[in-house]
Amino acid sequence: MTDQPSDPHWWRQAVFYQIYPRSFADSDADGVGDLPGVISRLPFLADLGVDAVWLSPFYPSALADGGYDVADYRDVDPRLGTLDDFDRLIAEADRLSLKVMVDIVPNHTSSDHRWFQEALRAAPGDPARDRYVFRAGRGPDGALPPTDWVSCFGGPAWTRLPDGQWYLHLFAPEQPDLNWDHPEVRADFLTTLRFWSDRGVAGFRVDVAHGLAKDLVDPLRDIGDVRGYDPEDLPEDGSHPLWDRDEVHGIFREWRKVFDEYDPPRIGVAEAWVRDARRAPYASPDELGQAFNFDFLNAPPSAPALRAVIDGALSAAREAGASATWVLSNHDVIRHASRLALPDELSRADRETWLLADGREPVADRALGLRRARAATLLMLALPGSSYLYQGEELGLPEVADLPRSALQDPTWERSGHQVKGRDGCRVPLPWTRSGPSYGFGDGGSWLPQPESFGELSVEAQEGVAGSTLELYREALGLRGQLLGDEGLEWLDSVGQPHAGVLHFRRSNGWQCLSNLSARPVQLPAGSEVMLSSGPLTGDEVPPHTTVWLLWP
Ligand code: GLC
Repeated sequence: MTDQPSDPHWWRQAVFYQIYPRSFADSDADGVGDLPGVISRLPFLADLGVDAVWLSPFYPSALADGGYDVADYRDVDPRLGTLDDFDRLIAEADRLSLKVMVDIVPNHTSSDHRWFQEALRAAPGDPARDRYVFRAGRGPDGALPPTDWVSCFGGPAWTRLPDGQWYLHLFAPEQPDLNWDHPEVRADFLTTLRFWSDRGVAGFRVDVAHGLAKDLVDPLRDIGDVRGYDPEDLPEDGSHPLWDRDEVHGIFREWRKVFDEYDPPRIGVAEAWVRDARRAPYASPDELGQAFNFDFLNAPPSAPALRAVIDGALSAAREAGASATWVLSNHDVIRHASRLALPDELSRADRETWLLADGREPVADRALGLRRARAATLLMLALPGSSYLYQGEELGLPEVADLPRSALQDPTWERSGHQVKGRDGCRVPLPWTRSGPSYGFGDGGSWLPQPESFGELSVEAQEGVAGSTLELYREALGLRGQLLGDEGLEWLDSVGQPHAGVLHFRRSNGWQCLSNLSARPVQLPAGSEVMLSSGPLTGDEVPPHTTVWLLWP
């Protein structure tokens, strides 16, 4: 599609921008974002300076899980557009030198998928059921589920059909798990990879990549709750029945062969919640090429903790033959401007409680959160590897923690018996203008209510305003493009006074990054020139919660 010579390694240090299509821009005033909306805003993204966009699912879907319940992997949901719109999107992105990556959801389909509909029409034992995981129940009359597995969204991982059989869904009941031992399942996904690759996509973000291969040999083993597990608790030898089994790698090696049919080869990035020590194969050049590492996002904002995470991620990526990946926000987690506004000692469960309290308790320090978020972003963008940004973080958007309960759509809310509020708060449609219906998202309102504060956080309110978060991102991405060299990083421990709250490292081309994560100001290293700062400096000091990019002449 592109005239430029293709660089097979373009992704290694690229900046990706995640678009959650329903919430990005709405062209037809139905309150839901769509592909023409995305097309209309691509110049904004090119101007922001990202290299690629990653589109969360836009496929036909009943939206039981925000589009991660796919009814047809090779089409566009009519509410979001058409395949022609998709082709126009690729062409416009190409014109703007942006690559496009799409999301692929191989662990489960939607219950509306033709395969599942066929399975429902078939009788127990019919081969049409073999593409999924159907079992008889336990107990008298098989009235108990085949195992005690709890789904990731709460409630049992099995649903019973009127004919007595149960089917497996590790997420919502509308997301039946596929049986990856079935040759047709394997073959059909290869067709899907080629379908989008032929249309010009640069690659795929692979949803729940660690879940495809399961031990489904009877009798199935009881393991209880499969939610919120700590990947480090998974067995080292890949013997968990559901997650991170060795057999999964055969699937991705097949995918790699398809990726390599194209020029440049298509890329993949795995969403794989696995032990650090077992992530490398997913990211290896024989498989997907990259894997998300969420340790950076989950690390406490302290220098020693972050340094350990950075070192760990860099060495793991090296070992895999991949480049590292960095993420601070996405469509599944509390936006980092709010996460960093909360007391550091909160656990993930405490943050859920904060959401349940509509963000009132504990009180979020919004100004501090934004300050730390900007510092964290400059730190991330200075690290070797790829950064994955999430739409709206360039505006410093907070989590909308006080969405009315009647508006909530994340399946977690209902399935947890209203104990977990869910992920809607980071999916509120973007504000483009200061005022007007839905702050410029579209003329027909917005499928989740936007708070009033969005007006002053809009693109219009920040554009061209020195010091705004939007301009900080633009400057950072522009500079990064000029400075980027090899993937090396060298820690500098003793510039100025040694300081436990500081991360200071050198990249190539005289580029240094210094983050002051402590509560005390730090002296700027003598002889350095400040290129960019996440917040105002005080004389020759870097104030607390501030990152600077320095040039060493
Ligand atoms: C991934 C997606 C998440 C979705 C889940 C099930 O974790 O990021 O949004 O709910 O998979 O598909």
